[in-house]
Amino acid sequence: MAATAAMALAAALLALFGLSRGSPQGGLPSRDFPPGFMFGAATAAFQIEGAWNLSGKGENIWDRWTHQHPDWVADGSNADVACDSFHRFKEDVQALVDTGFDFYRFSISWSRILPRGTVDYVNEEGLWYYNRLLTELMAHRITPVVTMFHWDLPQPLQDLGGWPNPVIADYFEDYARILFRHFGDRVKYWITINEPASIIESYANSRLGAPGLDDHGVADYQASHTLLKAHAKAYHLYDKYFRKTQKGRVSITLNSAWLEPRTNSQEDRQAAERARQFYFGYWAHPIYSKIGDYPAVMKERIMRNSLAEGRFRSRLPEFSPQWVKFIRGTADFFAYNHYTTRYAASGTEGEIPSLQRDSGVIRSYDPKWPSSASSWLKVVPWGLRKMLNWIKKEYGNLPVLITENGFSDHGGLHDKDRINYFVSYLQELLKAIYIDKCNVFGYTAWSLVDNFEWARGYTEKFGIYQVNFTDPNLARIPKDSAQALRKIIKHRALVPNLLQGEMPEPRVVLVT
Ligand code: NOJ
Repeated sequence: MAATAAMALAAALLALFGLSRGSPQGGLPSRDFPPGFMFGAATAAFQIEGAWNLSGKGENIWDRWTHQHPDWVADGSNADVACDSFHRFKEDVQALVDTGFDFYRFSISWSRILPRGTVDYVNEEGLWYYNRLLTELMAHRITPVVTMFHWDLPQPLQDLGGWPNPVIADYFEDYARILFRHFGDRVKYWITINEPASIIESYANSRLGAPGLDDHGVADYQASHTLLKAHAKAYHLYDKYFRKTQKGRVSITLNSAWLEPRTNSQEDRQAAERARQFYFGYWAHPIYSKIGDYPAVMKERIMRNSLAEGRFRSRLPEFSPQWVKFIRGTADFFAYNHYTTRYAASGTEGEIPSLQRDSGVIRSYDPKWPSSASSWLKVVPWGLRKMLNWIKKEYGNLPVLITENGFSDHGGLHDKDRINYFVSYLQELLKAIYIDKCNVFGYTAWSLVDNFEWARGYTEKFGIYQVNFTDPNLARIPKDSAQALRKIIKHRALVPNLLQGEMPEPRVVLVT
């Protein structure tokens, strides 16, 4: 009798957790990824293409910032050549093929297509480049996932003020129209904008990147307003003129660390929730929530601080009811970049005025969390699972594509820390999928190749393929992590021999 009950319970658990092949381990219900789950790798135009002034490309804000301020780049470098993907894209595609990826997330350089930023002049050689890249991908059955804007604003548009100028939303819509028109027959996954939260940081702190302003708490909020409008305009444009024939899906890539309360006090728990709203809800609430608009807590706090500073209005611009409606619901799936976790505690830090100050949160790391080569990137796999659950609770269970996840080191082919990172984060992802029923349909490794890591230059390497930047051939050489991902993708599972045998044993921390 007891044996029958135990068997029934085991069967129920199997059904509940979708356990198929491979034995579960350490709280992991299954090592298999669900049927149809997609694996990809990502890059961005500015970080890999090079050819900064070739074949008709115009200057963008990152060209300008790196050329004017080499001292602001960790190694004084720039991306004039980078991985030279403009000439070597076939090697990138070969790396994707060799690893077995289903899709490639790359971005299009606005200034390569529209050197002046506006559609009065379209650079044929720019179109030609991306057409050849798409042809190469299609020939190998690799699905393109295309980001329209990954931070490289054409300089002529910055000369008009950049994102704080609302007219840039119109110019973005025009640029989107050119992309849908020329590439939409083959591109079925579009990301309008990558990490708007990171874009606005460079309006608040000049050393973080282009355009290099220090107008914190003002220009950053104005930029966000235009970025959200620009995204929504591109989405509606697709809806109105292209969706019926092209049948693609459009989203925007949002990012945030998971924000964990520093202590269990009520203040810190509230601070963590407030931080989630300030750093993520800021973008997600206007698009994915039922009511739209910025989170109420942001509107209230920024208004209060603005009035206290002697202003007559909030530094956070207001959306009219028409704009709230226009922006709400403008995503066909949830695109999310995740790397790390931070603690949040109640308190004030940051300059007056600034987003940090307005949030009333002090963010920090646990010294016990393992580090990467990037000061901001600590290895905290369970944060991914918590964040996916929070997204589901807050915005409903829209399908989620993880558009970036990855780890930096200082280089080398035997990158066991990167394997540890991928395996431990993928384990948490499987728990989110099977135990918590989070609707995640794909995962993207950042990055396919070592590349120009913005203000960190070439000092922090994220690639699963090594690129030696002093070698004139810039050969792409697979690291051990590329081999590990190849096995995962081939078996569609976190296969056991990743954990032993030729692969080093990962330091996997399982949270059960
Ligand atoms: C997110 C950005 O999208 C990407 O450009 C950057 O290189 C990675 N994070 C790593 O910092």
